Amino acid sequence: MMNNTGPAVAVKGLRVVRGKRRVIPGLDLEIPGGQVVGLLGPSGSGKSTLMRCIVGVQIIESGTVTVLGHPAGSTVLRDRVGYVTQSPSVYADLSVRDNVAYFARAVGLRGADQREAVDRTLVEVDLVSHADSLVQDLSGGQGSRVSLAAALVGRPSLLVLDEPTVGLDPVLRRDLWDLFRQLAERGHSLVVSSHVMDEAARCDRLILLREGRILADVTPPELLEQTGAVDADAAFLALIDAETARSGERSAS
Ligand SMILES: Nc1ncnc2c1ncn2[C@@H]1O[C@H](COP(=O)(O)OP(=O)(O)OP(=O)(O)O)[C@@H](O)[C@H]1O
Ligand SMILES: [Mg+2]
Repeated sequence: MMNNTGPAVAVKGLRVVRGKRRVIPGLDLEIPGGQVVGLLGPSGSGKSTLMRCIVGVQIIESGTVTVLGHPAGSTVLRDRVGYVTQSPSVYADLSVRDNVAYFARAVGLRGADQREAVDRTLVEVDLVSHADSLVQDLSGGQGSRVSLAAALVGRPSLLVLDEPTVGLDPVLRRDLWDLFRQLAERGHSLVVSSHVMDEAARCDRLILLREGRILADVTPPELLEQTGAVDADAAFLALIDAETARSGERSAS
């Protein structure tokens, strides 16, 4: 069983500068454990930056990011947090199976445990038939599923997935979201970024970012209720319009 006490992630007063820009100007957030939490927002809104802070690879200006009760990036979190970046993070010149086995070994799995974990994960990401192909010979969508398998194989308590369904067909997207749901039901916490608003409906909770600020932190039904919109796409646009109108009023006064 996973430890479900306390939030999976707690962010306080987070400020991040990248290049010359302050891309996160002061952010407070709690992400509950055992849920699929969607991180949505326009391109450049800070989704990947926030994920980098959660996994502890982003230099921050100030604030705290606590993950499973420990400061983000702590050594104790190494085996407990899985991260899939937006660009491929696996070895192109190794086979699919060897890649997943490499990441299984990295989290301490050996012998039969390792083989079982690799086999199970290849089934979950639907790559059994390509297990012996080199990653460089795969399609884009197949390659991104290898990265996902690499993060999944150690069964981390927290999975941080940066746009994991980009380039996948609708059937695969549905299957992956079913897998995310199953993982959450087993007590894993997932933070999944997406541009695809129909995926929002499949999350337990939605965090809508814009310019490094939280526009909304709601359940999908709450989002529709608050905005009166028919779907997540329309709801998100309504929130952006409302925010733009508010900031216009602020600067006019
Ligand atoms: N390596 C970098 N150096 C400087 N600025 C960066 C760097 N990476 C991102 N940024 C800036 O940080 C801001 C947030 O970028 P981020 O990648 O977090 O956005 P995102 O929401 O993930 O966008 P996308 O949906 O396009 O992936 C952007 O304004 C971007 O220009
Ligand atoms: Mg991004």
